[in-house]
Amino acid sequence: MKGLILSGGKGTRLYPLTYTRAKQLIPVANKPILFRVIESIRDANITEIGIVTGDTAPEIEAAVGDGSKFGVHITYIPQGAPLGLAHAVKVSQPFLGADRFVMFLGDNVIQGGISPLIADFAHHPEWNSQIVLTRVERPEQYGVAKLHADGRIEQLIEKPQTPPSDLALVGIYMFDHHIFEATDAIKPSRRGELEITDAIQWMVDHGYSVFPHVHTGWWIDTGRPDDMLNANSLVLDELVPTIAGKVDAQSKVDQRVTIEAGAEVINSIIRGPAIIGEGTKIINSYVGPFTSIYSQVLIENCEIEQSIVLENSVLRDIPTRIQSSLIGRSVEVVHHPARPKTLKLTLGDHSKLGLL
Ligand code: TTP
Repeated sequence: MKGLILSGGKGTRLYPLTYTRAKQLIPVANKPILFRVIESIRDANITEIGIVTGDTAPEIEAAVGDGSKFGVHITYIPQGAPLGLAHAVKVSQPFLGADRFVMFLGDNVIQGGISPLIADFAHHPEWNSQIVLTRVERPEQYGVAKLHADGRIEQLIEKPQTPPSDLALVGIYMFDHHIFEATDAIKPSRRGELEITDAIQWMVDHGYSVFPHVHTGWWIDTGRPDDMLNANSLVLDELVPTIAGKVDAQSKVDQRVTIEAGAEVINSIIRGPAIIGEGTKIINSYVGPFTSIYSQVLIENCEIEQSIVLENSVLRDIPTRIQSSLIGRSVEVVHHPARPKTLKLTLGDHSKLGLL
């Protein structure tokens, strides 16, 4: 079996962060989501992996390389334009050939890995496809599956007004080579994309067997900032803590905190689950639960909780607690106690600033 990771796309819902960085490389619990995806495919004993790339290909190739640091072999597949998930499969045909494969969206995070799903598909060579579903509270916001009495997929419906079930599609799919008949046959949808749901429906309608796998743990599609923070919290909650950096005698650090090598915590409180990245300094501050501070960050005289801060940023002397925030790379947030009280801002397009 081979692996196919979709890492193209536009990432518009995460602007402005994704103007300058691939969304799949944004870290949750200080590890890029794409690295987590590669590791979960590798942990299911699949080592031949294709990564579909778009405009951010150079950044992704620089971060992942040939895959040897993960113990896999990576082939990059340029998509040209983000014309849909089924289009991404279509352009990957030369790489996939006649092999069965698992396709994983490069911005999704799933609890417990994918080994059980792969094993299920491997035990049923007569199945042409298997798609991962999970029960959701608001099925009308997702692609939803209707099942036959015998368990097969009968129909997939995008954001149905009257959902036939509460089983939504997770961004993980398994296919055999018959998927290429579907990706060749279907036409672009109203939004101009070749939709994977249309391709799967085509397989169902043409007599191919498509089965569900119902996933019971959590799963997050990190398309929006709140999803990213949510994924960060869930992954932090499962992280095995280690203290490799320095914590001075005046600081209080919870048991569920990871302090990476070269990080320093000085006269501060860190409540877990939380992670402090390499070379980061936390001085006279409070870092609350569900917070990931990436590498080479300076946080001084601040309180921050339930947030992600990316590398090389500086937060200093902020009089109000920062909460539920996603702060990019090399960002500076500092307080000047000068009068008159003014705001001095340099914000990128699509920045969001909530002031009290
Ligand atoms: P989406 O989140 O559906 O699309 P997007 O990344 O363009 O984001 P937005 O809606 O915010 O603009 O994509 C899911 C994953 O699939 C993501 O990792 C990007 C990838 N993808 C491709 O590789 N090729 C494509 O043509 C599309 C649409 C997505």
